Amino acid sequence: MEEFIRGLPKAELHLHIEGTFEPQLMFEIAKRNHISIPFSSVKEIEAAYEFDCLQDFLDIYYQGAQVLIKEQDFYDLTYSYLKKCAEQNVRHTEIMFDPQTHTERGISFETVISGINKACRDAQRDLGISSLLIMSYLRHLSEEAAFTTLKESLPFKEHITAIGLDSSEKGNPPSKFKKVFEASVAEGYIALAHAGEEGNADYVWEAIDILNIKRIDHGNNALQDPELVTEIINRDMALTVCPLSNKALQVVSDLKAHPLKKMMDLGLKVTVNSDDPAYFGGQVNQNYHEIHKALNLSKKDLYELAKNSFNYSLLNENKKKTYLDELESYYLTNK
Ligand code: HPA
Ligand code: ZN
Repeated sequence: MEEFIRGLPKAELHLHIEGTFEPQLMFEIAKRNHISIPFSSVKEIEAAYEFDCLQDFLDIYYQGAQVLIKEQDFYDLTYSYLKKCAEQNVRHTEIMFDPQTHTERGISFETVISGINKACRDAQRDLGISSLLIMSYLRHLSEEAAFTTLKESLPFKEHITAIGLDSSEKGNPPSKFKKVFEASVAEGYIALAHAGEEGNADYVWEAIDILNIKRIDHGNNALQDPELVTEIINRDMALTVCPLSNKALQVVSDLKAHPLKKMMDLGLKVTVNSDDPAYFGGQVNQNYHEIHKALNLSKKDLYELAKNSFNYSLLNENKKKTYLDELESYYLTNK
């Protein structure tokens, strides 16, 4: 099965580029930028990655991102993630980045997006992986701050496909960002948002009704409300589910208690993703593998999940079809 998962063509639709920052690279970049970090070894860093909840993780995640200063740093971070994609037969990826984590420290929007974008362009050329970018607003900051970011993004609009909403969910409902989402969509960005990771079903309702999102990041707590589940199915929206993240942040007590199979059985369109692989103990294939083991998923289930990853990507229909054909022929010869 490990072999089947490794070769399975797939797309990754939910990952934060700052969350792919492996300790080894963090040390290297900290050193060349002469920034001290409060850890003296990779082992010490890894030992600090024990979380009780989302906020615990976010505190460490924002701290790690502080060593990213130059365009080359953002390039190296992104290219290193894309190399891992190539090893896992991730054919397409939709990368979230948090501009405010950097602009708040005086790093320009241009530095951030140029580094990320050049790495994506080189990976398309050298590794054959397609990618697109999702600019995420930090929900613990104000709507006004998100408006500033929207404005800063406009000269680089051609490189950005969608907007997202991430960071501390509880106490920061989607409705807080109604106006900036409307303005972003008017600029041509597609709306996505994290909802129902720690927040309840009412936050998912707000995300779909008030922010008009096209895909739900996480969405676990949608299961609290059967009417909401029906609505998500009727609107044909996918959930980008992140099993190892859910385990690490104690959204589920154990992978065996993960609702992924239940979601599929209810008719929800589910995809499997790594979220923040450097912090949660595994890349996307590890997520496929561990959830398969915990829930006894069949090859057909895994095929379904990979199919959803292309079908619910933001690619145009032509590109979707190319990847889906590749996936189907892989499945038919390896099932
Ligand atoms: N949830 C919210 N914000 C985040 C996450 C997450 O899982 N990862 C990075 N920012
Ligand atoms: Zn996330």
